[in-house]
Order: sequence, then structure tokens, then C-alpha cells
Amino acid sequence: MLHDDIDYILYSEETLAETVKKLGAQISEDYKDRNLLLVSILKGSIVFMSDLMRSISIPCNIDFMAVSSYGSGVKSSGTVRILKDLDRDIRGYDVLIVEDILDSGMTLNYLMDLLYARDPNSIRICTLFDKPERRSVDIYADYKGIEVPDEFIVGYGLDYDEVYRNLPYVGVLKREIYENKA
Ligand code: IMP
Ligand code: MG
Repeated sequence: MLHDDIDYILYSEETLAETVKKLGAQISEDYKDRNLLLVSILKGSIVFMSDLMRSISIPCNIDFMAVSSYGSGVKSSGTVRILKDLDRDIRGYDVLIVEDILDSGMTLNYLMDLLYARDPNSIRICTLFDKPERRSVDIYADYKGIEVPDEFIVGYGLDYDEVYRNLPYVGVLKREIYENKA
């Protein structure tokens, strides 16, 4: 069972639900006279996105982008590849990037530059998790759920080697899981 690979649970389903509701309420307030476009970064943010959009009470559009920055390891490789681009022209939209976790910041730094060049009304970042200690570029989130310690976490969309995304909570993997694979 997936659960057996987890050393301990960091954030329960209840904690996550509460965090996401607060973010949704703040975004609904801030964007009420804007033209909100939520851009979910696949695949890690899908669970967060699906809960966040349902906690937003104003009209909004959604779109998706898929990027790859990690391969199968636990540290950023520094290269970002666009695997799937947006379906639309973002001119006239207030873009809110929805990300699972801001770690080194390299992925979002690259994406911000790319999307800015397409001339949206505005562009901001909403991340569920933030690991500020690990930042290697100067980037911050306009909306953030929880600051996390420097541990590799899985669940609620976050993967290790593409597994564990479907855990409903967020936890820390047992050491032997990395060590066996490395
Ligand atoms: P960054 O470019 O280093 O900020 O990497 C951000 C991406 O790395 C996230 O969208 C995640 O896919 C992945 N990532 C970073 N830290 C973790 C973690 O603790 N668990 C799972 N994925 C992570
Ligand atoms: Mg990932």
C-alpha cells in the first residue's frame, strides 16, 4: 500500500482543505473586478487546482501548462522543458499561476519570463507550499499556503518518481524508498 511508504504525515486532509479555502477567499476578494485566468502547472498542481478553483467564488477561466524540470530525482536539474503550452492568448487576462511547491524557484522564474513576454494584464503566483530556504533565484509567491521545512514531501499532487500524487494528505517518504532507487 502507498501509505506504508510514508514515514510521517506533515499535513492532514483537514489542514490542506482549510489552507486552500483561505487562499480561495483571498483570491476571490482581490480579483473581483479583474479577468482571472488560473494557470495550473501540470502535473503537480492538479489536486490543489481542483480544490482551489472550487473555493473561488468569482468567475474565472482555467488553463494548463505542463513543464518538466526534475526528471525522476529529488533535486532540480535547472532545465525547464515545455511539454504542453496554454491553449489561448493571455492578452487581457489577469493570470494567476497555480503551482504545487516553490522550491529552487527555477521553474517559475522561467515561466514568469515566458508568460510576461506574452503581454497579459497582470501575472501573479499562487503556490500551496513554499520552501524558502531552498531558493536559488529571486522569486516569491503572491499567495502561499504553507511554508514547509527542507524535506522532500509527497501527496496531494506531489510525486516521487511519478508515484504518490493520489495520497490525500502530504507526508515525508521513508528513507529506504529513495535509497533503494538511487
Ligand atoms: P523548482 O524549480 O526547484 O522551484 O521546482 C519546483 C517543482 O519541483 C515543483 O513544481 C515540484 O514538481 C518539484 N518539487 C520540489 N520540491 C518537491 C518536493 O518536496 N516534493 C515533490 N516535488 C517537489
Ligand atoms: Mg514533480
